[in-house]
Amino acid sequence: MINIRIPATSANLGAGFDALGLAMTFYNYVQMEQSDRIEISSADGAEIPTDETNLIYVSAKDLFEVCGKKLEGLKLIQTNSIPMARGLGSSSACIVAGLVGANTLLGGPLTTDDLVDLAAQIEGHPDNTAPALLGGIVTAVFDGRKVHWVKQEVFTKLKFIALIPDFELKTEKARACLPNEVSHKDAVYNLSRAALFSASLLTGKFENLRTAVHDRLHQPYRMELIPHCREVFDIAYAHGAYGVYISGAGPTIMAIADERNEYFAGKVQFSLDNAGLSCWKAHEFRIDNEGTKVEEQQN
Ligand code: HSE
Repeated sequence: MINIRIPATSANLGAGFDALGLAMTFYNYVQMEQSDRIEISSADGAEIPTDETNLIYVSAKDLFEVCGKKLEGLKLIQTNSIPMARGLGSSSACIVAGLVGANTLLGGPLTTDDLVDLAAQIEGHPDNTAPALLGGIVTAVFDGRKVHWVKQEVFTKLKFIALIPDFELKTEKARACLPNEVSHKDAVYNLSRAALFSASLLTGKFENLRTAVHDRLHQPYRMELIPHCREVFDIAYAHGAYGVYISGAGPTIMAIADERNEYFAGKVQFSLDNAGLSCWKAHEFRIDNEGTKVEEQQN
């Protein structure tokens, strides 16, 4: 039996649509073992597919096929802390768990680069899968086959407060609302801010983050799909957030705050509750620099 720990991820980071993402200290756990049949269960009672449509199983099977092997079955025990369809990389966590687990079961035939490529091919974009695998903040370009990436470890004195609502927003719906074309001006608006975000985060110029998280490619459209989105942004900024953005495809909203901003999450929660927005819950995390970890358990 192997144990796999996969971090939640926050993609886009404002302007870096489909390109930037980071891993957080918030994890799913999967126990995996080869079997002659499919045996999938949930350790925490979360509702998960228990047949061959399970995304961890599908991804593991893909890896076996890439390696010229046949997967007969798999025993999986999942602990899913990362909520689904909230913009925190839950599907990427399943894909990465399947790939890393299967690669370990086969003795590690694929390299980290191969896994990053395969995960992006399954997901369609790399900005959740790459940081889930690698940890840190990842800048990635996916050319449809390969991912060209840089992982940077982050040791800033920042905390990331995920404001998670009790409703879901499916990524397909949140992508379907985006325009097919954007103007040259809007493209420049975004690329300059995406570059500013990484450079500012990594050099400690946090006062730039408020400008850097603005974008014109996805957030203005997705805000319309997320009830009270602007109010939640305003509350986080009122308590001194450096930057606030829609995490991935939403609906979670991420606030970046200085670690010296004491009780930030509690103060934001208090204001949300007072504004009648108790369906939003503030959870505080740091950046995970390790990515997915595997340990083999001796039976
Ligand atoms: N970059 C992706 C999006 C992340 O914004 O649609 C969600 O999977």
